[in-house]
Amino acid sequence: ATGTHVPAIVVGSGYGAAVSALRLGQAGVGTLVLEMGRAWTTPGPDGKVFCDMLNPDHRSMWFRDRTEAPVDGVLFLDLANRPIRRWAGVLDRVQFPGMGVYVGRGVGGGSLVNGGMAVVPDRACFEQVFPTVDADEMYSTWFPLANRALRVNSIPEPWFEGTDHYRYARLSRTLAGRAGYGTRLLPNVYSFEHMMREERGEAPKSALGTEVLYGNNHGKFSLDKGYLAQAVGTGNVTIAPLHRVTRVTRTATGYAITARQITEDGALVAEKRLTCDHLFLGAGSLGSTELLLRARETGDLPDLPDEVGEGWGPNGNVMAARNNNLHEPTGFKQSAIPVLAITDPVRDVIAEVAPVPAGIETYVSLYLAITRNPNRGRFTYDPGADRLDLQWTRAQAAPSVAAAKGLLDEVNAANGTTYRYDVFGGGRAFADDFCYHPLGGAVLDRVTDGHGRVHGYPNLHVTDGALVPGSLGVNPFVTITALAERNIAHVLANDL
Ligand code: FDA
Repeated sequence: ATGTHVPAIVVGSGYGAAVSALRLGQAGVGTLVLEMGRAWTTPGPDGKVFCDMLNPDHRSMWFRDRTEAPVDGVLFLDLANRPIRRWAGVLDRVQFPGMGVYVGRGVGGGSLVNGGMAVVPDRACFEQVFPTVDADEMYSTWFPLANRALRVNSIPEPWFEGTDHYRYARLSRTLAGRAGYGTRLLPNVYSFEHMMREERGEAPKSALGTEVLYGNNHGKFSLDKGYLAQAVGTGNVTIAPLHRVTRVTRTATGYAITARQITEDGALVAEKRLTCDHLFLGAGSLGSTELLLRARETGDLPDLPDEVGEGWGPNGNVMAARNNNLHEPTGFKQSAIPVLAITDPVRDVIAEVAPVPAGIETYVSLYLAITRNPNRGRFTYDPGADRLDLQWTRAQAAPSVAAAKGLLDEVNAANGTTYRYDVFGGGRAFADDFCYHPLGGAVLDRVTDGHGRVHGYPNLHVTDGALVPGSLGVNPFVTITALAERNIAHVLANDL
């Protein structure tokens, strides 16, 4: 209720937030988690909590009239996107002039919608991105802890080599090999044991039933099943879904937040003011940065560092589509969970082979390339519109496209194949106008100290992807989790 005081408030419920909530709860600190999305626990009329990619409905997207899937269609047919009812759906695409940013909405944040790829960065790369973080400690303690807590597992190779559902990945490996490129299998939080049972008909289909992006009904160990369930289990943590934090101010002893509670149809239920001693921002790169920028620009927290909003990047994300030869089909059965990446050590690219689970043979190979791009964007706050803006231009993505194209040009040359222009809309083979991996805005050791404590504001913390300076070289959630574990351990030992 409004006016309530709690020892700790956590804003958001993605990776950084979930780690903080669990460790606070275990330490006996009364904690309230405020999440703008819904709790994905109750099934719809079809008996399922989430809808699949081929049959999207109101559950798919956050208050949209039409779905906005990254893949627009195949063969210029509008297969993927369709009209939907406006509702508190699980996937959002936050649109800025030069970039659309996909994020999860709900208790569990990005873990509800993502591909589950759980990748620890190479140590050399980590040291370059986080020069002030003790890498020995990260690689001996925090990465292993994150992998255990997230229940990361690897696909059994004999099954990978034999199953129809990864023919598309093995084909991409063969084609890359002809061009001289190696590949690697990537770990995941989706249970491969479950996936194998799906294939045998012993478990309900999720990855093998075109589910990802709008949620997985089975198989995936998302945060709501792990960290957040454990946090609630401590008896000290409460999660309030459908509560969006809009404002942060200071009180004599801590912080006050304003939260707007809505229904799943978007109607306002209440506006609440709550106070706390310790405030943890885990609303993601966009959400946490927005709260800080607004607080600085409106004078609520006027002394926040100048660097708030700086250092943003899409982790060099570029998607690309190739066309395969007729005698080398990808297979119409495709697991929705990606497991293989082509590695290009010279251009510093990993091109993850993404599924096209259309249920028909499309001859398309789809890639999510993660590239190292030195360009950074910055967030600004528009007071008139009370809106976060992102200063990022398409031209800034050029090094990423060049790197991905360099690799895939060679794959095409070695195989006598071409690109596909019917997948992303606009007749393009490379999509550089959206990303899955927004990073930065409240960078570690710039906006915060070395453990996520915001400079100038005691007991105000950033816990999430906003801490990562724009580019990591691999999928980010294991790093966000490990860093959050490290930071909260330090804070609990020293500040609480
Ligand atoms: P995260 O974004 O997870 O959570 C933030 C939460 O805060 C959200 O639930 C949001 O609703 C909430 N929130 C925001 N503002 C708020 C406010 N004002 N008040 C209350 N709540 C608020 N990564 C990876 O490592 N492997 C992968 O395979 C993939 N695949 C992938 C696919 C897709 C489709 C997407 C969109 C993303 C991925 N990712 C990924 C990226 C990964 O999911 C992402 O990096 C993390 O979820 C980021 O974790 P954070 O803790 O930063 O926030």
